[in-house]
Amino acid sequence: DLSGISTFGPSTMIVVSNRLPVDATENEDGSISWGLAPGGLVTALEPFMRENASTWVGWAGISDLVLAPFERDGVKLVSVTLSENDVELFYEGFSNDTLWPLYHDVIEAPSYHRAWWEVYRSVNQKFADVVAAEAAEGATVWVHDYQLQLVPQMLRELRPDLTIGFFLHIPFPAYGLFSQLPWRRQIIEGLLGADLVGFQRAQDVDNFLRIVRRIMAYKVIGGHVTVPSRGEENRYVVARNFPISISYPDIQKLIKDPAVIARSREIRESIGNPKIMILGADRLDYTKGFLHRLKAYDELLSDGDLDPTEVVMVMVASPSRERVDSYIKLRDDVELAVGRINGQYGELGHYPVVYLHHNYPREEMMALFLAADVMLVTPLRDGMNLVAKEFVAARSDGDGVLVLSEFAGAFDELKAAVAVNPHDIDDLKKQILRAKDMAPAERRQRMLSMRRRVREHDVEKWSRDFLKALAHTNRVS
Ligand code: G6P
Repeated sequence: DLSGISTFGPSTMIVVSNRLPVDATENEDGSISWGLAPGGLVTALEPFMRENASTWVGWAGISDLVLAPFERDGVKLVSVTLSENDVELFYEGFSNDTLWPLYHDVIEAPSYHRAWWEVYRSVNQKFADVVAAEAAEGATVWVHDYQLQLVPQMLRELRPDLTIGFFLHIPFPAYGLFSQLPWRRQIIEGLLGADLVGFQRAQDVDNFLRIVRRIMAYKVIGGHVTVPSRGEENRYVVARNFPISISYPDIQKLIKDPAVIARSREIRESIGNPKIMILGADRLDYTKGFLHRLKAYDELLSDGDLDPTEVVMVMVASPSRERVDSYIKLRDDVELAVGRINGQYGELGHYPVVYLHHNYPREEMMALFLAADVMLVTPLRDGMNLVAKEFVAARSDGDGVLVLSEFAGAFDELKAAVAVNPHDIDDLKKQILRAKDMAPAERRQRMLSMRRRVREHDVEKWSRDFLKALAHTNRVS
């Protein structure tokens, strides 16, 4: 339920991300329905916002929607209106067809268009202007992700009194890739408008600092960058990694719900009570390694290493960026591969792949996690991957095996997972079999060790660590 508000004054804590936590979709009759915004960013930030009465600035998900500020769970939501042109050139274009593939190691080729860049700049300015108008004197502003990399500098120009933090949820690429970007200097200058620039992994920080040195020729000592300022004192910017996480308590509450537990049994039954249920749950994105996973599974079935009557792979693929060409093509390729496998190895009433192109509520996701024997998180590149951490947090029974890509940020922490290089189809096959055949004692030992890590490093600690470092940065500089 969304209610209008008029009582909020200027805010001392503002979070800004491309998406608001709520996502609008337009129905055929022109009315609007609200759902939860897709992706890990919103999942991670929601608990923080609930605990810290603050303002969230972002886009509601459809073009030309003008909304007055409104309240949800005690958080003031301020919507930034994007025109159809903004959505095409800023969101689908520069954010998701230039930066996204470039930052994910050019798995798909990034497109560089000057017209997209211009709109990326103007939309970043739009966000900065809205935040500048909302922020109280001396407020803290926390800017999120690759869509808004120019906001820190734009905001600093408008409001030098603010403390500005930036966190990148996706990987930061190596110099050799980043330097392709025709606007590489502008992006680095944009980020260096922040007092603290946070990343997921230590390797992202290394990449960033190396680029700052090589492209800007700024002095870098440890994680500190000296930014020369004309006629003023130098500024210092800190770069550090803060691996994001999930809300452990929220998940414990969900998995104790008798309805969720009953649903997990129902799920197993609905797919014919197979001996082994393998699960994958990702946005339908080319970074997630769908086709590699399907190829490995197909080969395991054809080699006879997996018996199609005993195993079911449930593949949840949530719809994503559906107007971007590479996503349209990926969907076709995935659906072709799924159809082939089911056509080849399926029988009436039993199919080795259950493919679901849907968004599910959190409760249903938890039931799926509880039902699975093997969870495949095999992205080719991923900033963190919160699904891996959610799966671990959900398995209070100490069972279930996580197969985890070395190319996911979560790999740095979840060392007890079954590691896999998803580019290597033979390795994928080997690790899937290893997970399927793992003895109960080993499963339990690995799961308990991963659960401890996630419990002690949950999203509450992540936001606390970041804000503590941000407050500290501002004091010493
Ligand atoms: C990833 C990104 C987020 C993004 C989410 C969903 O998690 O890091 O910034 O919001 O995907 O993608 P979308 O394009 O639908 O916002």
